[in-house]
Amino acid sequence: MRKFVKFAAVVVAFAFIPMLAVAQQIDLVHTITGMPLDLSLSPKEGQDTPAVKQFLKTGHNPYNQVESCMHEAEEMFLTACSGCHGHVGEGKIGPGLNDNYWTYPKNTTDKGLFETIYGGARGQMGPQGSLRTMDEMLLAIAWIRHFYKDSPEDADWLTDEQKAAFVPYDPENPVSPTETLVCEIPAQ
Ligand code: HEC
Repeated sequence: MRKFVKFAAVVVAFAFIPMLAVAQQIDLVHTITGMPLDLSLSPKEGQDTPAVKQFLKTGHNPYNQVESCMHEAEEMFLTACSGCHGHVGEGKIGPGLNDNYWTYPKNTTDKGLFETIYGGARGQMGPQGSLRTMDEMLLAIAWIRHFYKDSPEDADWLTDEQKAAFVPYDPENPVSPTETLVCEIPAQ
């Protein structure tokens, strides 16, 4: 009996290890196959930043609309995505990301957009999950949300309050984010 209790304790302890590694409360699935995404492929650093923790709990990207993080967000997008999608998401060999048309409608949610980036989609849109940290992906998402140029009405990722304050991006007059701010997300 004692042995069994010990064994059961070990089993329970192991069952909790993945939860400790990534405290995930939303179910993330691949955009094309619908299969669960394997977050263990993600680089270890950047798995437990405050932003990633909040995102895995709520499905919302805490970097969105945070002025102080826009410089890093832009840098991230320029490093990883703009070669195919254009500097402000105007589209190149990859589709435009700055308007209200989405091949995959779920990309109007941060959760959906994260899934598309992490797991990839079709053709040249390969999975980014093992190439970038989750924190970097959230930053790239914040830049995508920032350069959105269409009506805030279609911007499902914004809260009602954010919709009221949102100024659509003007690709004709791009404004560079301030470089000197320290990126900090509001406390939850
Ligand atoms: C090598 C080129 C390439 C790179 C690099 C790339 N993409 Fe893509 N992306 C594509 C192509 C091509 C598609 C169209 C795939 C499809 O329709 O399934 C696409 C599709 C997408 C979509 C779906 C758009 C929609 O309308 O639903 C999103 C979102 C996206 N990419 C974001 C990103 C982000 C963010 C990065 C950087 C982390 C990135 N991509 C890097 C080529 C690329």
